[in-house]
Amino acid sequence: QDAASFIRGLPKAELHLHIEGSLEPEMLFELAAKHRVALPYTSVEALRDAYAFSDLQSFLDIYYAGANVLRDEEDFYALTRAYLLHAHADGVVHTEIFFDPQTHTERGIAFDTVIRGIRRALLEAQLELGITHRLILCFLRHLSAESAMATLRQALPYRDWITAVGLDSSERGHPPSKFVTVFDRARAEGLLTVAHAGEEGPPAYIVEALDLLHVSRIDHGVRCLEDEALVQRLVREQMPLTVCPLSNVMLKVFARAEDHNLRGLLQRGLCVTVNSDDPAYFGGYVAENYLAMQRALQLTRAELIQLARNSILASFLHSSEQSRHL
Ligand code: ADE
Ligand code: ZN
Repeated sequence: QDAASFIRGLPKAELHLHIEGSLEPEMLFELAAKHRVALPYTSVEALRDAYAFSDLQSFLDIYYAGANVLRDEEDFYALTRAYLLHAHADGVVHTEIFFDPQTHTERGIAFDTVIRGIRRALLEAQLELGITHRLILCFLRHLSAESAMATLRQALPYRDWITAVGLDSSERGHPPSKFVTVFDRARAEGLLTVAHAGEEGPPAYIVEALDLLHVSRIDHGVRCLEDEALVQRLVREQMPLTVCPLSNVMLKVFARAEDHNLRGLLQRGLCVTVNSDDPAYFGGYVAENYLAMQRALQLTRAELIQLARNSILASFLHSSEQSRHL
């Protein structure tokens, strides 16, 4: 059996996926036409050619511009539905999706429109494809703590549809400590917490996410290897890292796939998982991420099995639901 089929056959959970990052250029053009939004690109190919990033910020600028074509509930439904079909084809049995409400509410789209469209697709996929899900609301860290708190307040009427809050967008200069108050409030409401940390930012941001935001997982976290005491703590606590290999290469966290530290993380005994982050922008869905690492680092089948198993264990599924996939 070839590696691609082996990888697709492993039951996997996807734990780091921005739904806005699954907007493929074809759908972007379709929605632009539907809403009569002018695009600075003449074709799908020209848009794809613009996906040449130098760092996280150069990506985020294009990603937020792209999200501007998402306007009504049907758009969010179609976006989520398309992602779920890809995930299902890749052998994803459970997905925990990030959404960025501020990307939409800041331009006048109602929170209700966003969450209803996403949720309808999730419920439908559960029935049709058997994929289970959780929804994670992310705050944009380049915006103020007050804006994050206002977003949490908007979300509270939908409390039962949301499992956790997270933190994404421009990492450098926006440490987790900026969001202690809103994360405290989220935890008081019974929400779990996660945060992007140690992607471009220093290991100290991972420590802050653990100590101040009380996260259940670290999103990315690849820079943890620069701090030995931190690595030992992450191993001891079996704190999951949601690593996104193709993203890291596209955003120049590592120069080439061959330079990725995934095997180093695994060999230290960390609970590493593999995820796609923003698959429409980074060149592949979750199976492509496993495959890229398998090829670049010659991952063994045992290592691939471990990664898939970690993803189930690191998910927010209850242990009884996890056992069905282990
Ligand atoms: N938003 C979407 N993808 C992201 C990433 N990789 N890091 C931070 N914010 C993001
Ligand atoms: Zn991310």
